[in-house]
Amino acid sequence: MSRRYPELADKVAIVTGAGQGIGRAIALAAAREGMRVTVNDINPTTAAATGEAIQAMDGQAHVHVGDVSQEADVARMVEETVARWGRVDLLVNNAGIEPVASILEMSPELWDQVMAVNLRSVFLCTQAAARVMRTQGSGVIVNISSIAGKAIPLPFRSAYAASKAGIVGFTKEAARELAAYGIRVNAVCPGVIVTPMTAKARQDPAMMEKWMREIPLRRLGEPEEVAALVLFLASDDAKYITGQAYHVDGGKVMV
Ligand SMILES: NC(=O)c1ccc[n+]([C@@H]2O[C@H](COP(=O)([O-])OP(=O)(O)OC[C@H]3O[C@@H](n4cnc5c(N)ncnc54)[C@H](O)[C@@H]3O)[C@@H](O)[C@H]2O)c1
Repeated sequence: MSRRYPELADKVAIVTGAGQGIGRAIALAAAREGMRVTVNDINPTTAAATGEAIQAMDGQAHVHVGDVSQEADVARMVEETVARWGRVDLLVNNAGIEPVASILEMSPELWDQVMAVNLRSVFLCTQAAARVMRTQGSGVIVNISSIAGKAIPLPFRSAYAASKAGIVGFTKEAARELAAYGIRVNAVCPGVIVTPMTAKARQDPAMMEKWMREIPLRRLGEPEEVAALVLFLASDDAKYITGQAYHVDGGKVMV
């Protein structure tokens, strides 16, 4: 299979939450470009499956089972990657959770959990990877936010929307701060993508009907379509792009 970005071959990527959905698609797309990929997930079974899929296409994968909201797990993820391959060229902060709870009923513990998994993790992983990238003088970080963090808050997902908006703010700050070390940082804001996260909502005909009305391209997105934007941002074609947050959502949000 031909590679779109030959400059990515043999470079090293870390993709969090890569056991399924968008993260898996990103990990496979990176491996297709010849990147060596650390596949992180909290779920050992799905993480191993993504690692096997990469090896089945003659790619190189390192499976890291860990919780990205935990400092020690994140440190181990980056240390193992550097011990194995000597560098980190791309970090994709993709792991996330989207619990449904009203503001009136939500426990503070649930709020904290969403912030830890969706936002604290982005800080922890960025810090650990950027320390390696700084010594290299180069690196790319792509944070997976959401249209919920930009313009379209979803009902009963206040913690999710706040965490995803936080990612956009963090992305801009990180882009400014880390540019001095040759590190670019961007965010990607997917719309409604066909993954396990949206499986329940996709079974609701009223929800599907609403989405089809709201999405100009009249369909949901595929994980590979998010991965394509991530790989573009990782490539040299995007070498003058930093501090941005791009929608990939069929036109649902136009700002
Ligand atoms: N699917 C969509 O429509 C959509 C839309 C906008 C944004 N997003 C974002 O894209 C990212 C991926 O979404 P998805 O749809 O593939 O979700 P998903 O639920 O299908 O997959 C998320 C993966 O993250 C892993 N994960 C969860 N907590 C973790 C932790 N603490 N440490 C490590 N791994 C952890 C899960 O095990 C799972 O494999 C998320 O950040 C999500 O918020 C998704």
